[in-house]
Amino acid sequence: MAAFIQRMSCLLAVWLAVVLSGIQAVDRSNFKTCIQSSFCKRMRDVVPGHSPYRALLETLELSNTRLTLQLINDNNKVRLLLELYRLQGNMTRLKINELKPLRPRFEVPDVLIADPPTEPLSLVSQDEGGVVLSLGADARHLVVSARPFRLDIVEGPHVLLSVNSRGLLAFEHQRPRKDTLSKISSTVGSMWDTIKNIFSSSSENDSEEVEAEEDAEDQNYEKEEDQADMWEETFKSHTDSKPNGPTAISMDFSLPGVEHVYGIPEHAENLRLKTTDGHDPYRLYNLDVFQYELYNPMALYGSVPVLLSHSTQRTMGIFWLNAAETWVDISSKAAENTDSVQAPSKVAQTDVRWISESGIIDVFIMLGPKPTDVFAQYASLTGTQSFPPLFALGYHQCRWNYKDQEDVRSVDQGFDDHDIPYDFIWLDIEHADGKRYFTWDPAHFSQPREMLQGLVDKRRKMVAIVDPHIKVDSGYRVHKEIRSKNLYVKNKDGGDYEGWCWPGTSGYPDFTNPEMRSWWASMFAYDQYEGSMENLYIWNDMNEPSVFNGPEVTMHKDALHGSWEHRDIHNLYGLYVQMATADGLIQRSGGVERPFVLARAFFAGSQRYGAVWTGDNAAEWSHLKISIPMCLSLGLVGISFCGADVGGFFKSPSSELLVRWYQTGAYQPFFRAHAHLDTPRREPWLFGPENTALIREAVRQRYALLPYWYLLFYKAHGTGQPVMRPLWVEYPEDVTTFTIDDEYLLGRDLLVHPVTDEGSKEVTVYLPGTGGVWYDAFTFQRHEGGQNLYVPVTMSSIPVFQRGGSIIPRKNRIRRSSSCMEKDPYTLYVALSPQGTAEGELYIDDGHTFNYEQKKQFVHRRFIFADSTLSSSNISPDSQFSTASWVERVLILGAHKPSSVTLKTSGGSVASLEFDFDEATSVLTVHKPGVNAGADWTLLFQW
Ligand code: GLC
Repeated sequence: MAAFIQRMSCLLAVWLAVVLSGIQAVDRSNFKTCIQSSFCKRMRDVVPGHSPYRALLETLELSNTRLTLQLINDNNKVRLLLELYRLQGNMTRLKINELKPLRPRFEVPDVLIADPPTEPLSLVSQDEGGVVLSLGADARHLVVSARPFRLDIVEGPHVLLSVNSRGLLAFEHQRPRKDTLSKISSTVGSMWDTIKNIFSSSSENDSEEVEAEEDAEDQNYEKEEDQADMWEETFKSHTDSKPNGPTAISMDFSLPGVEHVYGIPEHAENLRLKTTDGHDPYRLYNLDVFQYELYNPMALYGSVPVLLSHSTQRTMGIFWLNAAETWVDISSKAAENTDSVQAPSKVAQTDVRWISESGIIDVFIMLGPKPTDVFAQYASLTGTQSFPPLFALGYHQCRWNYKDQEDVRSVDQGFDDHDIPYDFIWLDIEHADGKRYFTWDPAHFSQPREMLQGLVDKRRKMVAIVDPHIKVDSGYRVHKEIRSKNLYVKNKDGGDYEGWCWPGTSGYPDFTNPEMRSWWASMFAYDQYEGSMENLYIWNDMNEPSVFNGPEVTMHKDALHGSWEHRDIHNLYGLYVQMATADGLIQRSGGVERPFVLARAFFAGSQRYGAVWTGDNAAEWSHLKISIPMCLSLGLVGISFCGADVGGFFKSPSSELLVRWYQTGAYQPFFRAHAHLDTPRREPWLFGPENTALIREAVRQRYALLPYWYLLFYKAHGTGQPVMRPLWVEYPEDVTTFTIDDEYLLGRDLLVHPVTDEGSKEVTVYLPGTGGVWYDAFTFQRHEGGQNLYVPVTMSSIPVFQRGGSIIPRKNRIRRSSSCMEKDPYTLYVALSPQGTAEGELYIDDGHTFNYEQKKQFVHRRFIFADSTLSSSNISPDSQFSTASWVERVLILGAHKPSSVTLKTSGGSVASLEFDFDEATSVLTVHKPGVNAGADWTLLFQW
């Protein structure tokens, strides 16, 4: 009977998920609004202008690199401890915790790549009003005002950013529950003694006044009124037991002179964030949202609590390091008296309020001043995009589901028959035996190695899904081992937490536990994951985590990860899943091979572990359009390897939409088609020969540009600069670019304006950079920068432009897969600036190992065109790699006809080269330089 009930509940869960996912639009009532999330409501009820917080200047302690100071809430006498650090690279860190927490509060581990290096912090002046600290160069100071507490970061006469200037700092101190207060008041006293020892440095010098305030504080526990839902909260049928009571935190930041803010993904929203006045704040809470709606602040699958501000003067960032449910309010207005300390005047201002349910306030203020500086600053804290294997940048063919091995074989053959390159075919949940991940359905995938070998033979790969929910089944080894090792997340009563997901009743491994992660990683060893081979890579879905019968389709907040509540770590869970899987793929190869792991949920730092996608979108034009700002927002906060399901997951695209989606996806970092189980098949050749040809052409363009994509990822990995960029990143003073999100840049040199409207006959492309030029990437027509260009389009058009002044390498011999093109030659596209110059780079390595890092085995060249000479030189002289690739052609866009072109090689040989000049397009084609792509050479042009 029990088995029957369990089976029925599984079926019901799956049915619910499929039905909901296939048919309905988002059911908003499944997800909380701010008012329904009691801490959000309480924090949002705090009104500006009445901050009860005062800095107790007499408690100030300044070591070389750290300032600590107590803050007191004059309403309840509870004190907080403020820590301030000046960090290397023009950043300030600010932490606020309770001075005397009843129990420790969660501080996010594993996101920062190291303890951020500090720099000396020196006192400039101090009086009863506050203190001024020097932040080093450029007359930058940190001004701490005491009453009310406020921080200002100023540069010369300008306020760059203020903290608590609106008085919205709120910190719900932990308190004993009223009904148990008398019983435990004595315990609190002894607990405080223990905690005092922990914070001994800050409590040693307490003055008598402070002692008196401590007593007052203890008594004030009793005076404070409890508010509704502080100790228990019900949403729909779920009750959150909240054993620790209210623990929310909130803080406001004001940005004088700022009108444009970006970031805080993931939202289905424009690139530029909107004011939330009169609406819900943007929510950051990793959730599995069926059929999400566009242009609203509801939470989606991933969260990165990083907001960027940008003006013509400066770019800055605020990184709110907190993994609990978070809401972000944004409001913009003309401000008075805030732009200048000495000479007040009116300027625009944006105010931001962050609210989190638990944890501490731990904020990194990244002071820029340029966009590139903010990217580097954030990368120095959380790391950079992992450098994917080259083949992961090719095209991925996915659907839920490829039915069996024969299906895989015939789809694979279909690509060859239709001459469309691809690198990966994907298997969704049905491939596993009863959704028991790490296994294969014996009826449909009985010979996985044979199937994988078939792909190896064609130099292609496969991805299989391995979700983090584990079927509760005593006959399933993965479940048995996790249970016996006691590594599942626990429910509030201490038993293994169970919820419904694809396999039915499932356990959720506690990925916050390093032991769990290392066991999980070990499961990817070839002898553990039976049937797996080197060309099998992994997809982690549902890692929010998705719990079909949980509150808001996720885990109960009072579930336990060791001594921490799920509430504290929620937004981190997905990162840990991807981290453990990526580690597993590295380990199975003995540390040699770079992993590829796709995940749906993510957090700050997830960029280090692989790729993400925008989840379950729909086959609608609006979803195609929103894929651009969604991936741009992720790129701004470090996650460059982003894509959207090409074709749309739910529903069926028209052939026009499908073609346009391929054309767009070919120019987005992660390029994968995917479709829901219930949709008709849509492999690229199923829409008639014309559409097949259009899709083939889009995919071929992707493959031709793989050398450029690879270079961009190499650079993103090295420097933290996004691969896919908003225009304002490269044109920070051009206000026209600040709101553009229907076009974007790849690196600096390619501008893409995909066609995302049905029936389009034209697009208007903004070409930035007055005084510069852009070349149509296909017709090579030259256009002035600093204008709106009207571009007529047909179904074959993908408006892409190459920046005048750049050199881009392409491989134009398109083959079955990227690996088949490894040794192919390059064509260099030299797009001349109005000054007749150009510059570019080429990066080559083996495409899949860590040897580029560990053994410096790579080629990194710089091409410079100047003074009628094109030269190739080595950017990294201590690297070594021999490539078979060579340069077969050089195209000079915007050229004149030369009288001769001469090649000089490093060996001293000199040869005259053949060339063609096309008067109509001003394109000079130089044939067969024939030089190795890793060698030094020069081409001399005689005009
Ligand atoms: C989720 C994923 C989707 C996948 C499906 C079945 O809805 O977002 O991509 O196909 O689960 O695994």
